[in-house]
Amino acid sequence: MCGIVGYIGGKQAYPIVTKGLERLEYRGYDSAGIVLFDAEDIKLCKTKGKVADLKSKAELEGVTSGNIGLGHTRWATHGVPNDVNAHPHYSNSGNLVIIHNGIIENYGAIKKALQKRGYHFESDTDTEVLVNLIEDIKLNEGVKLGKAVQLALNQVIGAYAIAVFDKTKPDEIIAAKLGSPLAIGVGEDEFFIASDASPFIEFTNNAIYLEDEQMAIIRRGRDVKVRQIRDDKAVAPYVQELQLNLEQIEKNGYDHFMLKEIHEQPDAIKDTYRGRLLLNDGIIKMAGIEDNIERLTSAQRIIIVACGTSWHAGLVAEYIFEDLIRIPVEVEYASEFRYRNPVITPNDVVIAISQSGETADTLAAIKLAKEKGAFVFGVCNVVGSSIARETHAGAYTHAGPEIGVASTKAFTTQITVLSLIALKLAQFKGMLSASQLREYIAEMEAIPAKVEECLKVDAHVKYISSMYKDSPNFLYLGRGYNFPVALEGALKLKEISYIHAEGYPAAEMKHGPIALIDEHMPVVVIATKRGHYEKVLSNIQEIKSRKAKIIAVVTKGDTEVREMADHVIEVPETLEGLTPLITTIPLQLLSYHIAVMRECNVDQPRNLAKSVTVE
Ligand code: F6R
Repeated sequence: MCGIVGYIGGKQAYPIVTKGLERLEYRGYDSAGIVLFDAEDIKLCKTKGKVADLKSKAELEGVTSGNIGLGHTRWATHGVPNDVNAHPHYSNSGNLVIIHNGIIENYGAIKKALQKRGYHFESDTDTEVLVNLIEDIKLNEGVKLGKAVQLALNQVIGAYAIAVFDKTKPDEIIAAKLGSPLAIGVGEDEFFIASDASPFIEFTNNAIYLEDEQMAIIRRGRDVKVRQIRDDKAVAPYVQELQLNLEQIEKNGYDHFMLKEIHEQPDAIKDTYRGRLLLNDGIIKMAGIEDNIERLTSAQRIIIVACGTSWHAGLVAEYIFEDLIRIPVEVEYASEFRYRNPVITPNDVVIAISQSGETADTLAAIKLAKEKGAFVFGVCNVVGSSIARETHAGAYTHAGPEIGVASTKAFTTQITVLSLIALKLAQFKGMLSASQLREYIAEMEAIPAKVEECLKVDAHVKYISSMYKDSPNFLYLGRGYNFPVALEGALKLKEISYIHAEGYPAAEMKHGPIALIDEHMPVVVIATKRGHYEKVLSNIQEIKSRKAKIIAVVTKGDTEVREMADHVIEVPETLEGLTPLITTIPLQLLSYHIAVMRECNVDQPRNLAKSVTVE
């Protein structure tokens, strides 16, 4: 989704804002723009394309100097990606300029009203409507910019993170948030604004995260004042110290963030369970669970809501929870759940899973579940994110920043945390003996080394990738715990290589997809020893007799699948419930290598956004 960056202080804003935009490239975008104030006037430059295109254009046009700047990467919602629709947008007078992440849903009605009052619009965007609404209010009510922004935002329906600048009062920037993230970096006599902290992390570790319906008046060399948009109440800004460091958000020698993040998984999984697993005592420590243990264990039903890869982690959790704690689980797409008038009772526990913690549909599903009295538990990666704040309790994955648009370490760390939750609840409910729990904990602690071992199949997977990189279709099959892994493998391939891929439960194949199979179809089958192995062997026979090319992920030392498959990828053995942490690794590598060989933009695939803050 759109990324926003702003700077106000004593330094040159151009390098800070453009570098910041590069750091936000992972969010996904199709155009970029910048506006700078150089003590006399504002200069604006914007273009369809990448931040690199913006920099070339800005340097050619001399839009590079000034101590105040706003920059934007746009992921098109209203209006096609082109130079005109790119942000920033001026108001009609040319005095105000705005950048915006989000959607103004009632922009059509506001636009018509403004047109009647003589306003004209150059772009098709909702954002240009908002900046003119602010201008209209400012002029008609004779109020300051901050007040005009507040009154305007009280008229709009939708989501926003905005930054607005007025060249007639060039010592302040107004920022506001509802539904889209916004962080303010607090430096020495300088302030930064950004969609997340990565654009300013080398300048300051102190940040204010605006809450929904809050706005900030950021005054150069002075202070940040925070007010509530609805009732204009002043709020004392909470400045938090960030744990992020620069190394976490750079590629560190890897060609792509996705590859770096695939390789980070042994450490990320370790970081997820660090301090939570006590092998010797056979104990799992999770404050968010312990504090709510009665509520969680008395649940009559667990409903998991999530989107995309996080939804796949939810499907894995369905198997784990039902196996370990015998509470019925339903896994819902957040986008369907929120509009389906679902039956939710106060006896339900809803678990919301989200890497970014900002996904609009998941957030809306949480709000709905809370309204209906359910207890909502969040599993997020981004600390302090909207979902982390909106839920009653939660557990972080602690995977570190995930920059590649395609989720990798988020998936495995989500499964790790969900397994810990299930184990903790099972322990409390007395559904696991001490020795079973110890076995699980010991195996969990062995997972990072096993993931490390899986990563060694890289060269072999690369070779397989070279053979199938031009296939137009792929089928992924798995059963039980590995059915969601098949879905995730297919999603990874389609999103970064643009090859059509489908994931299916292996047995379901004969109810339709088998019609697709011929000698040209590569079929990736997860056929590890634990979990319906014999059944999967029969499925492989069915595929083999239709002459498909079989790429099988098997347990180390397997001989039976090897006889039937065209290629086998060996992975270490583990407990059935933990196999997704292992089997998913070669599938991530397969999609990565195929995408690289097809010269696709691995980290920023077309049309995709890292955090989907619009519905
Ligand atoms: C896939 C991917 C998306 C996200 C989905 C949910 O690789 O990245 O499918 O998983 O948009 O995002 P979060 O987890 O941030 O809620």
